[in-house]
Amino acid sequence: MTKTFYITTPIYYPSGKLHIGSAYTTIACDVLARYKRMMNYDVFYLTGLDEHGQKIQQRAEEAGITPQEYVDSMAVGVKDLWQLLDISYDKFIRTTDDYHEKVVAQVFERLLEKGDIYLGEYSGWYSVSDEEFFTESQLAEVYRDEEGNVIGGVAPSGHEVELVSEESYFFKLSNYADRLTAFYKEHPEFIQPDGRMNEMLKNFIEPGLEDLAVSRTTFTWGVKVPSDPKHVVYVWIDALINYITALGYGQNEHGNFDLFWQNDKNHEIIHMIGKDILRFHSIYWPIILMALDLPLPTRLVAHGWFVMKDGKMSKSKGNVIYPEMLVERFGLDPLRYYLMRSLPVGSDGTFTPEDYLARINYELANDLGNLLNRTVAMINKYFDGQVPAYIENVTDYDADLAKVVAENIEEFHKQMNAVDFPRALDAVWNIISRTNKYIDETAPWVLAKEDGDEEQLRAVMAHLAASLRVVAHLIQPFMMSTSNAIMEQLGLPVVFDLENLELSGFPENVTVISKGTPIFPRLDMDEEIAYIQSQMNAGKPQEKEWNPEEVELKSEKDQIKFEDFDKVEIRVAEVKEVEKVEGSDKLLRFRLDAGDGEDRQILSGIAKFYPNEQELVGKKLQVVANLKPRKMMKKYVSQGMILSAEHDGKLTVLTVDPSVPNGSVIG
Ligand code: ME8
Ligand code: MG
Repeated sequence: MTKTFYITTPIYYPSGKLHIGSAYTTIACDVLARYKRMMNYDVFYLTGLDEHGQKIQQRAEEAGITPQEYVDSMAVGVKDLWQLLDISYDKFIRTTDDYHEKVVAQVFERLLEKGDIYLGEYSGWYSVSDEEFFTESQLAEVYRDEEGNVIGGVAPSGHEVELVSEESYFFKLSNYADRLTAFYKEHPEFIQPDGRMNEMLKNFIEPGLEDLAVSRTTFTWGVKVPSDPKHVVYVWIDALINYITALGYGQNEHGNFDLFWQNDKNHEIIHMIGKDILRFHSIYWPIILMALDLPLPTRLVAHGWFVMKDGKMSKSKGNVIYPEMLVERFGLDPLRYYLMRSLPVGSDGTFTPEDYLARINYELANDLGNLLNRTVAMINKYFDGQVPAYIENVTDYDADLAKVVAENIEEFHKQMNAVDFPRALDAVWNIISRTNKYIDETAPWVLAKEDGDEEQLRAVMAHLAASLRVVAHLIQPFMMSTSNAIMEQLGLPVVFDLENLELSGFPENVTVISKGTPIFPRLDMDEEIAYIQSQMNAGKPQEKEWNPEEVELKSEKDQIKFEDFDKVEIRVAEVKEVEKVEGSDKLLRFRLDAGDGEDRQILSGIAKFYPNEQELVGKKLQVVANLKPRKMMKKYVSQGMILSAEHDGKLTVLTVDPSVPNGSVIG
């Protein structure tokens, strides 16, 4: 009976160089894929790129090339990275691939015909960076005008949102809400970590699923809707469908699609994703699949994020860690090991150079590297390199070691199936620590003395080699070269049988290598920490030297014409009177002399920055004098706007030298 395992990464936006975050997800899937292959599953591992959408179009414009040229060049870089990280994917999909685009268009038309998709009008807060709409209440921060109307804001990701109104196709998600809820109930293990399913139910499904806007007309870089080509398919619909087009859905279904898109006891479909995109995968994706009458995935594994001590990684903070640098300096295995061991299931983890170096020196060089060195050296010294035949239970130490090994092999499999890499590696390190302790307990150098115990010494050497063979098997999906090197130094062929792994499975007549080399050289912590730190800062944008001949004309987007600016009339105005507005803790009411004969009244939302507002009386401020007057707090007319500078979350009004007459025009 074939058992199949289909594992996918998110398809990444190629909008910049990928950092250790995306490397984490891709390595995590690689570890699972390798593990399942070793467990004799038929595995299909998919990764790729999400190449459509407004953000990509903008990046290409900035670079002065076409979007296709832009994504083509990014795709090369990403594939190189996966090669460097030894990612064993079976397919690399790009959403600009012909077969994919064709099927996305077909799927859209089919859902339109079925009535799941209809044409409507959309208006909402859109973040280009996230390619996502937000409701006002979902925004992390909202900007308001003086009347309290929302005029902008910031998405939870930290990116600014803009108000977008457009004709749009909508997906009637609510048609499927009951089926989705029923599916959740029948499959409580559908979402890892536990608890997130309930969050999805409470926050999105129970309040009533809103119809999802699934097309855009404000840009062109995407899959066109065949029956209405001014619309392009929403990038998330385009993206999610990759998981089935990659297998041949809508093209030739009698190959990989029929084989791998099955969900039952012997066929698993796992989507590994970051916590940031769980909603798309747990709500929209199952609903699309239901609408297409297809099986749903077995499990979504949502992991947390790698963050830095000072928060999220960002180029401007100079705290971005790129995988290439770590691999070039320290090799691949430490990176794969560090990433898999350090991010606890379901929560965020902090990357620190100190931690990185500590894990290499203590866990890899000391615990594992030394164990191998000592073992190989002792077998050479005491038995000329011949590994003694494995014998059971010469002493209680042997028995206890065997018990710990057996228990932890079982624990390892359990945690791998639960996709808990830190705990799976803990199980391996339990074996390593127990084996190191076993050397201290049995003291082979004493057994080797003339009045020692040859039989016991044989048992000890056999157990040490056998334990390392077990370790080499268990770490194979994580650290391929290290695992291979251990097998080679032990004198074993580099072949693995993980399914039948036992301590006693060490073969007979094996000769270890005559002189082993350390698999992890010890590193100078301070020096290496400083190195990583310097590389992080190297990514920070440098201040360029000012050269008047090199000033560039920026693209015209987001710029206004001089005539536009000239329409704004900014004048010097002196504060005659100011008071707090009753019923508002934000507003101050000003009477000002702007030089136009009659005093004017302006309401300004700066009260909390001027607790002693009377200090403003007599100051000369800058006001926008030709703003359309409007009524505020139901009774006051505000005739303009006071300019202020925003800094550190505060507002400070812009003052003018007292010698400048009231009413002077600024510009
Ligand atoms: O969201 N730590 O693409 P994306 C851990 N194209 N993982 C991180 C991370 C971090 N600091 N930063 C990013 C998209 N990731 C869509 C996906 S799927 C049909 C479409 C990982 O380039 C994490 O897996 O923004 C996250 O979900 C993914 O990169 C998002 O990549
Ligand atoms: Mg994202």
